[in-house]
Amino acid sequence: MPLANAEVLVAGSVCEAHELRFEQEQDPRLQIEIPPEFAGKWPSRAACLSAKAAWDLEAPGPNQPIPFSHKHHSGAFAIDCQYCHSGTSVSAAAGMPSVEVCMGCHSQLPKEYDEIEGIRILKQDYWEQKRPIEWEQLHRVPEYVQFRHNRHAAAGLLCQDCHGPVETMDKLYLVPQTNWAYGVPYQKLEMGWCVNCHKANSNQASIDCLKCHY
Ligand code: HEC
Ligand code: HEC
Ligand code: HEC
Ligand code: HEC
Ligand code: HEC
Repeated sequence: MPLANAEVLVAGSVCEAHELRFEQEQDPRLQIEIPPEFAGKWPSRAACLSAKAAWDLEAPGPNQPIPFSHKHHSGAFAIDCQYCHSGTSVSAAAGMPSVEVCMGCHSQLPKEYDEIEGIRILKQDYWEQKRPIEWEQLHRVPEYVQFRHNRHAAAGLLCQDCHGPVETMDKLYLVPQTNWAYGVPYQKLEMGWCVNCHKANSNQASIDCLKCHY
C-alpha cells in the first residue's frame, strides 16, 4: 500500500514521541513529526510504558491511587526493596514509603517528568496538599494470626519467596501460589501456605498452633 498521501502523525508528548519512533521502526513508511519540545529522552519510554501498565484496568489487582510500577523502580532502577519498605528487617510490618520518600527522588527530577500523570498526582494531590497516599493493601492476614516480617528476614528468606517476582511486575496483585497440593492456585494467605513452608525440611520453623495464634 503506497503511503504517499498518508497523513503525518504528530507527537503531542514525549511518551507519544517514543511510541511514534517505535512504530516507525516497525514500519519505515510511517510519516512522523516530533516537535522539538517533545524530542527529549525523559521520561524514558520504559517509564511511559510502566505507568500505563500499572493502571491497566484489565490487569489483575486493584488500581492504586498512583500508577506506581515495581518493575520500573525495583527492576529497571534496581532500588532496594527496603529503601521503601524499611520495616521488613526490624519489625512486624514491612511498612509503606511516605510521600517524603517518593519526593526524595522526585523533587530532584526535572519538570518534563510531570508529563506522566502519576508523577503529577504525586506532587499536586499529595506532596503539595500534605496528604498521605492511601494505597490499597493486598496482603493481609486476619487479626488472630501473628506474622512478623523481621522473624522471616532473620531466617534468610527473600521477599520473593512469599511475594513472587515483584521487581518484574508493573501492577501488583496476590500472586497465585502454584506449589500448593494439586497445583491449584489460590489468592489468599491461607494457613496451609504458612504451615507448608514451616514443615518443609530445610525450615526449622514451628507448626505449634500457639506460635501463630495467641
Ligand atoms: C530512588 C529514587 C526514586 C524513588 C524513591 C521514587 N521514584 Fe518514582 N521514579 C524515579 C525515576 C528515576 C523515574 C523515571 C525514570 C525514567 O524516566 O525512566 C520514576 C518514575 C516514576 C513514575 C512513572 C513510572 C511508573 O512507575 O509508573 C511514577 C508514577 C513514580 N515514579 C512515582 C513514584 C512514587 C509514588 C514513589 C514513592 C512511593 C516513587 N516514585 C519513589 C525515581 C524514584
Ligand atoms: C520506590 C519505592 C518502592 C520500592 C523500591 C519497592 N516498593 Fe513495594 N511498594 C511500594 C508502593 C508505593 C506500594 C503500593 C503500591 C503498589 O501496590 O504497587 C508497594 C507495595 C508492595 C507490596 C504490596 C503490599 C500490600 O499491600 O500487600 C509488596 C508485597 C511489595 N511492595 C514488595 C516489594 C518488594 C519485594 C520490593 C523489592 C523487589 C519492593 N516492594 C520495592 C513502593 C516500593
Ligand atoms: C514468609 C513470607 C514473607 C516474606 C519473606 C516477606 N513477606 Fe511481606 N508479607 C507477608 C505477609 C503474610 C503479609 C501480610 C502481613 C499482615 O497482614 O500483617 C505481608 C505484607 C507485606 C506488605 C504490606 C504492608 C505491611 O507492612 O504489612 C509489604 C509492603 C511487604 N509485605 C513487603 C515485603 C518485603 C519488601 C519483603 C522482603 C524484604 C517481604 N515483604 C518479605 C509475607 C512475607
Ligand atoms: C517461605 C516459607 C515461610 C512462609 C510462607 C511462612 N513462614 Fe513463618 N517462618 C519461616 C521460617 C524459616 C521461620 C524461622 C524459624 C526460626 O527462626 O527458627 C519462620 C518463623 C515464623 C514464626 C516464629 C516461630 C517461632 O518459633 O517463634 C511465626 C509466628 C511465623 N513464622 C508465622 C508465619 C505465618 C503466620 C505465616 C503465613 C501468613 C508464615 N509464617 C509463612 C518460614 C515461612
Ligand atoms: C504458621 C502459622 C500457623 C500455624 C502454625 C497455625 N495456623 Fe491457624 N491460621 C494461620 C493463618 C494465616 C490463618 C488465616 C487463614 C485465612 O485467612 O484463610 C489461620 C486460620 C486458622 C483458623 C480459622 C480458620 C477459618 O477458616 O476461619 C483456625 C480455627 C486455626 N487457624 C486453627 C489452628 C490450629 C488448631 C493450629 C494448630 C494445629 C493452627 N491453626 C496452626 C496460621 C497458622
